[in-house]
Amino acid sequence: MPPETLIDKLSAAHSLTLDEYAALIDSRTPELARELAHRAVEVRQSIYGTDVYVRGLIEISNICKNDCLYCGIRRSNRSCHRYRLTPEQILDCAKEGYALGFRTFVLQGGEDGYYTDPLLCVLIEKIKSACPGCAVTLSLGERSRESYQRLFDAGADRYLLRHETADPVHYAALHPPEMSFENRMRCLRDLREIGYQVGCGFMVGSPGQTSAQLAQDLKFIETFHPDMCGIGPFVPHHETPFRDKPGGTVELTCFLLSVIRLIHPPVLLPATTALGTIHPTGREQGILAGANVVMPNLSPVAVRGDYELYDNKICTGEESAQCRGCLEGRMESIGYRVVTHRGDVKRI
Ligand code: 5AD
Ligand code: FES
Repeated sequence: MPPETLIDKLSAAHSLTLDEYAALIDSRTPELARELAHRAVEVRQSIYGTDVYVRGLIEISNICKNDCLYCGIRRSNRSCHRYRLTPEQILDCAKEGYALGFRTFVLQGGEDGYYTDPLLCVLIEKIKSACPGCAVTLSLGERSRESYQRLFDAGADRYLLRHETADPVHYAALHPPEMSFENRMRCLRDLREIGYQVGCGFMVGSPGQTSAQLAQDLKFIETFHPDMCGIGPFVPHHETPFRDKPGGTVELTCFLLSVIRLIHPPVLLPATTALGTIHPTGREQGILAGANVVMPNLSPVAVRGDYELYDNKICTGEESAQCRGCLEGRMESIGYRVVTHRGDVKRI
């Protein structure tokens, strides 16, 4: 099938076969990308207009028990300066964000055993009562079903857990042997069943990744129907085994953002910090390819540089208000409007 026909099929059926997804990826040209982006923007416009949702990101800890080969805060990185925020510090960040208009807070961190269920439950309850009408999103890695249930019962609304790759063989190449693809999938299923709005996602251009593997990611999104999907380019970190590997590109990331929008029109798709890191207008390009979420940083400036998942991460020097203002200006410059309500997924 010629690529133009594949785009027609994707627009109409929101589905392609694995081979067709791979063929679409392999046959991409600037013209094809433009056509895909045009359709993706049209579809997003019909659901979300020109609204871009904001989430205040609070990076609560860079202590992690895992050793993912791509990640700058992996436990083997001895030169990483470690920190963890206290519940009081996290609550203060949320309150500051609330005063700036944020209505969603994303608590993200490494897998740090300090954050027990009781500690997190009390914290979630405090954030919810100090910030009426806000949504709390957690991004704290793999936990037990019981733990996810307790956090949900305490008031957490959403959970982000990137699947990283939907191909078990590639998963094993990116992770140490003690981490398993099956457990990752178990977590995503549990989160969904418990009632969270769930986000999955993957890195674009991770070392060794093939079009066939990306096709599996797209098929997974097609069948799992996540509420959110975080995709960003792989960016090498100098203290990891992947330090010398090439990074992912803006071009392929944007192409995939458009494809994902057409597969699953209502999905919440962030234009990620990683995309903004590899190109000065990466996030703007992401929005123009079909994304509709941005995540300015609300972490205390003193620790921002330490949450270094990859090299040259942006937004490490700015205060929360500056980060917010910066993104607002960027969105306005391309004709979009940052909105401050909770920004729940629209289920159509
Ligand atoms: N480059 C890009 N993204 C990365 N992440 C971790 N390390 C890197 C890297 N080197 C992403 C992972 C993780 C999310 C929090 O950050 O996909 O799920
Ligand atoms: Fe912490 Fe990967 S090193 S989740």
